[in-house]
Amino acid sequence: MPAGARSRADDRRRAAVEEFASDVRYYVTRRPRQLPSKYLYDDLGSALFETITLLPWYRLARAEMRLIGAHGREILASLGAPAATIVELGPGNGTKLATLLAARDSGSPSLSVHLIDVSPRALTRAVRTVREAAQAEVVSHEATYEDGLLELAQAFGASHRTLVVFFGSNIGNFDPPAAAAFLRLIRAVLRPGDALLLGADLVKEERRLLLAYDDPLGVTAAFNRNLLVRLNRELGAAIDLPAFGHRAAWNREASRVEMHLVCDRGCRLAIPVAGVDLALAPGETLWTESSYKYEVSGLQRALIQAGFERGPVWIDDADRFALMLAQAGG
Ligand code: TRP
Repeated sequence: MPAGARSRADDRRRAAVEEFASDVRYYVTRRPRQLPSKYLYDDLGSALFETITLLPWYRLARAEMRLIGAHGREILASLGAPAATIVELGPGNGTKLATLLAARDSGSPSLSVHLIDVSPRALTRAVRTVREAAQAEVVSHEATYEDGLLELAQAFGASHRTLVVFFGSNIGNFDPPAAAAFLRLIRAVLRPGDALLLGADLVKEERRLLLAYDDPLGVTAAFNRNLLVRLNRELGAAIDLPAFGHRAAWNREASRVEMHLVCDRGCRLAIPVAGVDLALAPGETLWTESSYKYEVSGLQRALIQAGFERGPVWIDDADRFALMLAQAGG
């Protein structure tokens, strides 16, 4: 590697550490104390999350796959004209999009697929899976959803149709104002007639919700604690991992499952690179993530407020999961 390239890579790494440190400092000193959830997904975190999707208790991934498999043709036909560009936000290992694309007509016009994700490893996997499944040009974008969408927006033409897919109930990891803003951003980069396909988990019994986020094998706990592993490795902390327990709680008023890391006996939280040194009271938690659960009507409203039209909805009744298609209004 030439020296210039090496120092640019170093600069990037240094900037990433600084951003991680300042995000951690900001969130951990707020009340309630938080850790920013986007840092759950480093390579290890992404691998653990993929394992979560295989757990018998995390049923929503399979429910979504069933819906895509059973209704893929109908979903694509509902677009009116075939999509020439498909953009997936957070493709995971690529199998969901591959399943959707398998439902395309054999005579479909050429297609370009864009995958946006922050994890380079996940992208490499997803590109391979989608390429194998479909006759399509597949381009990856290592970026946040927002940056990736804005970068791509110029390529969306008036003459062809674009479909944005956002699976996994990842919309539920935004709080409601952020989700509304994000839907508006997606709408803003689309042309009338383009569409958004959204996968969203629905409200169900508390027992079933909690099992999905606190599994008896402890994989979700490991996924959550991996954030502390990153604080130790990347920000010079020396946190005693077993001191922190994983807790999932259903907040009915807010309609969200909350994930926390709990220090039952009180802990010191020293994170040198972030300039943080504080004491957690016994039982105080670090709130790492929320997963909002929806009613179809509420999500329809949010889509319409963001400038989409009311569209078809496919629901898995057994596991209470919805796929919603919404076309950008004129
Ligand atoms: N989008 C996933 C969801 O809300 C993310 C997720 C699954 C998650 N399990 C988790 C996030 C456990 C934090 C902890 O279902």
